[in-house]
Amino acid sequence: MSESDAKGLWSGRFSEATDAFVAAFSASEHYDRRLYREDIRGSRAHARMLADCGIISADDGAAIDAGLQAIEAEIEAGGFPWDPALEDVHMNIEARLTQRIGEAGKRLHTGRSRNDQIATDIRLWLRTVIDGNLALLRRFQAGLVDLAEREVDTVMPGFTHLQVAQPVSFGHHMLAWYEMLVRDESRLHDVRRRANEMPLGSAALAGTTFPIDRDQTCAALGFDAPTRNSLDAVSDRDFAIEFVSAAALTMTHLSRMAEELVIWASPLTGFIDLPDRFCTGSSIMPQKKNPDVAELVRGKSARVQGALHTLLTLMKGQPLAYNRDNQEDKEPLFDAADALRDSLRAFADMVPA
Ligand code: ARG
Repeated sequence: MSESDAKGLWSGRFSEATDAFVAAFSASEHYDRRLYREDIRGSRAHARMLADCGIISADDGAAIDAGLQAIEAEIEAGGFPWDPALEDVHMNIEARLTQRIGEAGKRLHTGRSRNDQIATDIRLWLRTVIDGNLALLRRFQAGLVDLAEREVDTVMPGFTHLQVAQPVSFGHHMLAWYEMLVRDESRLHDVRRRANEMPLGSAALAGTTFPIDRDQTCAALGFDAPTRNSLDAVSDRDFAIEFVSAAALTMTHLSRMAEELVIWASPLTGFIDLPDRFCTGSSIMPQKKNPDVAELVRGKSARVQGALHTLLTLMKGQPLAYNRDNQEDKEPLFDAADALRDSLRAFADMVPA
């Protein structure tokens, strides 16, 4: 796809091509391509609804659906021609669709804008991410409960001010960790519930005059309800902020646990012996067994806190409705989600049920 074809998607009234630096500066496909599955899922539901409502023909609807399925397979096989000149994941997929099935491909965008499309994609993506993190949280919790049962009679010092205070059961200590994770779990459920509304139909900001059926796309995509206000639905990213906030708090808990592991694994206390496969050594200091995984989790909590700060600041100056600032939401959101997933997995693996 050449740059002039790409520009054709929105530049009807423009008399000069986009500056090359500006095109590169605006492109997000190198990171938002991660949303391709959600983007295609949303587009298939939208196209089917358009056909069912008689807004596009049944033939066009079928061609769009088959084309989108073929594109998904092409992306998964690694053969999709991603093109930064096409800005983002949405325009890359839509341009490819038109290349494959012709004019019908352009009708997919009827009654829709990239603004409600991206708001929908992120929510769909976040739902899956939350479900994955909930499963990891539950695995870690189960490991802690088992460990607490096995070690109920193991006595260790309980600390305040890191001074030896009173004897406690190691099981008791593990269940303190468990309680933190129970609250983390309930926060994620909360975020999921509020995020699970469908923006489609909001279009660019003020809805669409096409007689669309939002209830149909809402049900097809598994959302609880369509969003109620179009200006709000395309612009606010509070659901992403809530998720990263819940993630930052979970990471703070994991960081505290990591700190305890570091202290307990140090020969200064020698309370625990971490499995070799979670540690590294040193060739010139063979006595050392470094608790790297715990340290990395403690370190990763910093980037999730940073992501929360980024997203809050990103949002605070934005007037209604959609602003391009919001394109900057994805990298911190993805980064926080990855750090949370990997850290939960590390702990769940270290404390197996
Ligand atoms: N890439 C954009 C984002 O992430 C999608 C929406 C673009 N909309 C627009 N009017 N330029 O927010």
